[in-house]
Amino acid sequence: MMLSLRACLSFPLLSLVIPRAGCDRTGPRLPGAAFPLPGSNATYDYVIVGGGTAGLALASRLAESFSVAVIEAGGFYQVDNSYQSIVPFYALVVSFLGLDPNTYSRHPLMDWDLISQPLSGAAGRRIHYAQAKTLGGSSSINTLAYVRANRGFYDRWAKTVGDDSYKFENMLPFFKRSPKLTPPDWKKRNTPNATFTYDPSAFSSNGGPIQVSWANWVDPTSSWLAKGLQAMGIPLSKEGFNSGKLTGGAWSNTLINPKNTHRSSAYEFLDSVIDKTDIQVYHHTQALKINFDAKKRATSVLVSTDGLEYTISASREIVLSAGVFHSPQLLMVSGIGPKATLNRFSIPLVADLPGVGQNLQDKIFFNVAYPVNTPTAGNIVNSPATRDAAEREYLETQSGPLSSAGGYLAFEKLPAPYRTPSHLSKRTRDLLSELPSDWPEIEYIVAGFPDAMGGTIGSLSPSLIAPFSRGNLTIKSSSIKDSPVFDLGWLTDPADQELALATFKRVRKDGWEKKTLDRIKTGPELFPGAAVKTDEEILSYIRSTANQLWHAVGTCKMGKKGEEGTGAVVDSAGRVLGGVSGLRVVDASVFPRAPPSHPTATIYALAEKIADVIRRGGNNNNNRI
Ligand SMILES: Cc1cc2nc3c(=O)[nH]c(=O)nc-3n(C[C@H](O)[C@H](O)[C@H](O)COP(=O)(O)OP(=O)(O)OC[C@H]3O[C@@H](n4cnc5c(N)ncnc54)[C@H](O)[C@@H]3O)c2cc1C
Ligand SMILES: *[C@@H]1O[C@H](CO)[C@@H](O)[C@H](O)[C@H]1NC(C)=O
Ligand SMILES: *[C@@H]1O[C@H](CO)[C@@H](O)[C@H](O)[C@H]1NC(C)=O
Ligand SMILES: *[C@@H]1O[C@H](CO)[C@@H](O)[C@H](O)[C@H]1NC(C)=O
Repeated sequence: MMLSLRACLSFPLLSLVIPRAGCDRTGPRLPGAAFPLPGSNATYDYVIVGGGTAGLALASRLAESFSVAVIEAGGFYQVDNSYQSIVPFYALVVSFLGLDPNTYSRHPLMDWDLISQPLSGAAGRRIHYAQAKTLGGSSSINTLAYVRANRGFYDRWAKTVGDDSYKFENMLPFFKRSPKLTPPDWKKRNTPNATFTYDPSAFSSNGGPIQVSWANWVDPTSSWLAKGLQAMGIPLSKEGFNSGKLTGGAWSNTLINPKNTHRSSAYEFLDSVIDKTDIQVYHHTQALKINFDAKKRATSVLVSTDGLEYTISASREIVLSAGVFHSPQLLMVSGIGPKATLNRFSIPLVADLPGVGQNLQDKIFFNVAYPVNTPTAGNIVNSPATRDAAEREYLETQSGPLSSAGGYLAFEKLPAPYRTPSHLSKRTRDLLSELPSDWPEIEYIVAGFPDAMGGTIGSLSPSLIAPFSRGNLTIKSSSIKDSPVFDLGWLTDPADQELALATFKRVRKDGWEKKTLDRIKTGPELFPGAAVKTDEEILSYIRSTANQLWHAVGTCKMGKKGEEGTGAVVDSAGRVLGGVSGLRVVDASVFPRAPPSHPTATIYALAEKIADVIRRGGNNNNNRI
């Protein structure tokens, strides 16, 4: 096969454009014919704006039945971001992930350079929020964890949008459609103390092009910290995180292709249809504006390839999959959003939907860390003495530290001793009690970081995965070329502050101060350190160091027809409300609420589901399967 990712690494451009032999398209396709020359107006059945995680999944499925164009602002990460987007280890250290807007490494080929407003709940910091600008979207830079949410999350989604097809049991076939699961390679996994069981029935033997497996290497610091979490009373799960339960700990599934140990991104979707269908991909091409006819039907997209402007029309529909920041922005500059905002920038009103840009939900995590005596991937790869061997091991046997990403994750509801009135106010306890009983509130991520001296810092890092704080997003001009203006809302709701504080105390006391981790600790607490004691000091540490998980969702919230005034932007088939037709939004922005899991698995399932709705006629609101 000419188009394997291995070929991609050695001959990136050739392998990307030359179709694979043995295709089942009816006629042959010229090399590169999937990438039209820019500048000519053209019409397709479906035009997908954004060739990212949702966009490529949806476009590839639709291309099996329709003519489809993808409009993507970026290019090819395999070339533009090199090994950083291919070799699993580098997923954790992609150069442009830095938070500090003043010091992060810019990567104009790959990143949108989004900078938040000063966050009032996070010490007034402005945050650089990495979002990939490339085919594959943020699945090309994410940290590769494949995790579905709990049953109660999807059942609540179904209730919120009045459509039972979102219930877990009805979503499961769509979850199974994108990924192909490969069992762990126990021989390559380097340690006897990171074994586990899992539920193979959560996957289908004829799954799609996305590769899900487990890393071929276990970080020794992680396996120790996993023991620390188990000692906190969070046991190893028997089935893992893909069967509708999100509780306990597990060695996470990773989006790694076991054949070559490369990242498996949404590009795999495109790759799987590029020579079988007539899909057309306009890369390096930004959608500037959606055009509507007099009946508010979305008819075409004005696009720009490096300043060359032309129009791509849709005979059936336009779908926005531009992500949680750019889908709402594109709606607003095209006339759909809060009326006052559109008036302010003299944008002709197509539909007054006040929910566009609201309901932004984002998770944070923070570190509680000690110096430890175990090695970690970072210091093996960083040290000149061990780097060559690590590279050889990766290239020759697809194992070793460079083959690893993701690791041990654990989920729980905060246990009883931390739910007392001294930790959580009545309001917070009431808010938490509204969540289904299987909905975890806290995720623990374990991590080893190299320190400056070649040693390791071990961190137990809790994340607030049921955030109550809300951010928002708006525009600063009528041009899509000006970045959106957004506030992530971090830690503005007192419930999040109380949860952060209680969880911090739990990790410090039940995690690090128990004897399980004494065997690896080599000194006193490093972050934040013993001097940080009072509630005020701890909260101030959390506010000033909170990190992002890049799981933002919710800015084009899905809801019921009739709820336009209270924030609904799309219906349960992703169709834009407000009297508009021919326009859907399908990506992280439509989630009514943040999943306590990592979002990618759900984004793929959502894209599969909406593709199915469209292929089966697209107009029924109650798409039971
Ligand atoms: C650093 C990082 C780590 C993460 N780790 C994980 C993880 O381990 N597990 C997990 O499940 N999730 C993770 N996530 C989250 C997950 O990757 C995202 O939620 C998901 O990829 C978003 O998918 P999407 O389709 O909504 O948007 P994207 O995949 O970001 O796609 C949007 C696409 O639209 C394009 N676009 C935007 N505007 C325009 C325009 N005007 N014209 C043309 N194209 C446009 C963009 O270039 C992009 O390609 C992580 C995210 C990041 C950034
Ligand atoms: C392309 O379409 C736009 C919008 O319909 C139109 O104004 C323009 O004249 C078209 N260009 C060509 C070359 O047909
Ligand atoms: C796991 O096994 C390795 C190798 O046998 C050992 O060095 C390490 O300390 C063990 N870790 C734990 C958590 O038991
Ligand atoms: C966003 O939220 C902030 C903080 O609550 C508020 O001051 C601002 O007006 C909001 N902006 C929009 C566009 O909703």
